[in-house]
Amino acid sequence: MRIDLVTIFPPLVAGAFEHSIVRRARDRGIVEIYVHDLRRYTSDRHRTVDDYPYGGGAGMVMKPEPWFRAVEHLREQGNPGRCILLTPQGRRLDQALARRLAAEERLIILCGRYEGVDERVREHLADVEVSIGDYVLSGGEPAAVVLTDAVVRLQPGALGSLQSTVEESFAEGLLEYPQYTRPPEFRGWRVPEVLLSGDHGAVERWRREQQRQRTRQRRPDMLAELGADLGDVSEATS
Ligand code: ADE
Repeated sequence: MRIDLVTIFPPLVAGAFEHSIVRRARDRGIVEIYVHDLRRYTSDRHRTVDDYPYGGGAGMVMKPEPWFRAVEHLREQGNPGRCILLTPQGRRLDQALARRLAAEERLIILCGRYEGVDERVREHLADVEVSIGDYVLSGGEPAAVVLTDAVVRLQPGALGSLQSTVEESFAEGLLEYPQYTRPPEFRGWRVPEVLLSGDHGAVERWRREQQRQRTRQRRPDMLAELGADLGDVSEATS
């Protein structure tokens, strides 16, 4: 998979891809990630990316030309990919959307800034607008890091021998069970005895039960989405 990110702050995103699982996936050739400076695609001496809004009002609006020039230039190199504009007005990112985007051969991710981006970028350049949640960031860069991480870890081989229990439990519509490591007692707080018992069947049952309880307490909306299974789960945990 190839991911191209376009931003006016390349260092703000590039550093995030130099560590951990994303770094390893790049090193293994599972994903190629390129970060592009939007200002490279301006044509004036001051490398202007924003301008006053038509109709007045506070703040500046990002000009359409540099975005179009950047994406058209990137698309000259092979697969046009899917162009994503990050904005708080976009479709909310969840694991299902991450999986769908992870199946694309190429993503071109645009990080909007300031008060907004000229509407023609949304309408005629972006294939999809994505938001990472119902809050407003100063720009799309942190959102691009989140989206890229969620997509890269889903690439076959990205997690290596690590088993993604978190992704699996999300895929099943449940939250993850509690995890413990040594010591067995820390400041008087003991690890649940069942985990020390060596009884694998009992451990499995305990974990499953914890997942159900947690999901019911913290994310009843996820249980509701399980639909037909809901009856079983809530009966089993009530
Ligand atoms: N840009 C500003 N806020 C955002 C959000 N919540 N998601 C994606 N992009 C954004």
